[in-house]
Amino acid sequence: MALYAIGDLHLHYQSVLKAPGQLKDRVWKNHEEKFKKNCEKLLSPEDTLVLMGDHSWGKNLAECEKDLEYICDLPGRKILTRGNHDMFWDAKKTAQLNELYRQRLVFLQDSYETYRDYALVGTKGYTFEGPFLVDRRGRVVDWDEAEEAHAKKLVNRELSRLRTSFELAKADGYRKFIMFLHYPPTNILEERSGFTDMAEEYGAEQVIYAHCHGESRFHDSIQGEFRGRLYRLASGDFLKWQPLQILE
Ligand SMILES: [Fe+2]
Ligand SMILES: [Fe+2]
Repeated sequence: MALYAIGDLHLHYQSVLKAPGQLKDRVWKNHEEKFKKNCEKLLSPEDTLVLMGDHSWGKNLAECEKDLEYICDLPGRKILTRGNHDMFWDAKKTAQLNELYRQRLVFLQDSYETYRDYALVGTKGYTFEGPFLVDRRGRVVDWDEAEEAHAKKLVNRELSRLRTSFELAKADGYRKFIMFLHYPPTNILEERSGFTDMAEEYGAEQVIYAHCHGESRFHDSIQGEFRGRLYRLASGDFLKWQPLQILE
């Protein structure tokens, strides 16, 4: 029995592919088949796979049905969290998705799941990336305050959703946590953020995130040990479509 994670499948069986990188880059060629084969080799029915957002390019549920069927057909228990491109998934209507895919997929939002004695908590997150402009030497040359205020609102909403997830698990007696985000826990300038602070506050052992894809983005945030926690990037192209083992 093992716990695995990966993000950013960006499936498009019924929708138009919108990322130019996904059309040109070799790592994306037939990535659906590569990933499926890797899962079938690696995972058994007792295993758990957390899929950390950007599941599909579909604009609504009707355009995502085949993509979600593809995920249903992967081996093991599948837990999904939201990504910024998941237009089919309104956070407030998560209960309806869970009802629709009952026994097949778990949509995690304002809730938690368990693996052995661990609580699996998570949310989409938000990386406060836009308000500043950086020059070629990495120096901040401009800052947009209106944008900053808007970004802070989004960050706070995601932090409160994450806290709900932690608190529900804690109330049920869980003391060991693995935290999943779609966005990286910090922007390229930050060393700490509300997300890293929350991971420390609750003692999450590992923080797994995705969203950074394309080689130039792989090192946008923390990887490895940081202030007592292990941070790991698990975007699909970074992992070359091999699910990342989180726990045995
Ligand atoms: Fe993505
Ligand atoms: Fe994303």
